[in-house]
Amino acid sequence: MHIKRAGIAAIERGDTKYTAVAGTAELLSAIVDKFERENGIRYAKNEVIAGTGAKQLIFNALLATVSPGDEVLICAPYWVSYPDMVALADGHTRILQGSPEHSWKLQPDDLRAAIGPKTRWVILNSPNNPTGAVYTREELRALADVLLEHEHVLVMADDIYEHMRYGGPFYTPVQVEPRLRERTLTVNGVSKVYSMTGWRIGYAGGLAWLIRAMQTLQSQSTSNPSTISQAATLAALEGGTDFLIEWIDELRTCRDLVLDTVARCPGLRCDASDGAFYAFVDCSGATTPSGDVIATDLDFANYLLEAAHVGVVHGSAFGVEHHVRIAYAVPMPTLRDACRRIETACAALTPAVAAV
Ligand SMILES: Cc1ncc(COP(=O)(O)O)c(C=O)c1O
Repeated sequence: MHIKRAGIAAIERGDTKYTAVAGTAELLSAIVDKFERENGIRYAKNEVIAGTGAKQLIFNALLATVSPGDEVLICAPYWVSYPDMVALADGHTRILQGSPEHSWKLQPDDLRAAIGPKTRWVILNSPNNPTGAVYTREELRALADVLLEHEHVLVMADDIYEHMRYGGPFYTPVQVEPRLRERTLTVNGVSKVYSMTGWRIGYAGGLAWLIRAMQTLQSQSTSNPSTISQAATLAALEGGTDFLIEWIDELRTCRDLVLDTVARCPGLRCDASDGAFYAFVDCSGATTPSGDVIATDLDFANYLLEAAHVGVVHGSAFGVEHHVRIAYAVPMPTLRDACRRIETACAALTPAVAAV
């Protein structure tokens, strides 16, 4: 409520003019404080920037640094926007295939084998969209050891789901290996943690040269993010995260309901994940009651849409076939209803494991 009130107060105060491109001095201070308080990273004010969502900042960073032929390494499944952003920057995305045995997380040996002279960035996303996987300190340590061997590689840490966790603590790469500070962009925002997706504010911390380059791009494209949203974000960052305890408990109940539902559906499988608000579900092949073979994850997503009126996203969109992503950050009664419908729709399927 205090966040909405801060937005309203900004309008009433007449905070409706351009600000500095990277954000107001007050907001930049709050971002500096956030990184120090929650992640143990000390950035100067010229090492942070606010933008129109984390999405805009990731895009600006790639556009500012990727040249034709440069490679960006991304572990699949990945957030759908990364490869398109790389393509828009004339770069080449190199997909490193994750596996369920490793909870879909990037493996140090795969990273080592993939890095070459053209590698410009490695993108790490924890907690992950769409798998919910959260990297442990040890896992980040092992990846950092590989990255330290290759000084030319930049690291994008997409921490947007930082606070959506049901298990252990959160770590970001620079916190685990401070030497990576020299070439890491740590990206975060208010969309997920404060449910402020529509306010469109993200922020990032990184080296001054990189932040300056992103600011130059921002200055000639979107300019400063909305002043009203900046004021609301300031209130959000200064207001603490006590509310999260209750919300995370609710989300955990939602996650468990989805996992229980999946466990009851023949042909579906999903391991519990520790973060974000997604279940990445293995959907084996099956035949619909009308005899249509469900050959692909898109077929399965379409089947759920038609038979259960439930929307899920097919795994191919995230770079991994034979899976669908269920987003469970919805009100409990809606989720209960959706789960019942999924179960009924799946009960009507004839398992045909070989079909997918
Ligand atoms: C992994 C990941 N990164 C970044 C974003 C973008 O967030 P924002 O709303 O701040 O642009 C999203 C949004 O869904 C996401 O899932």
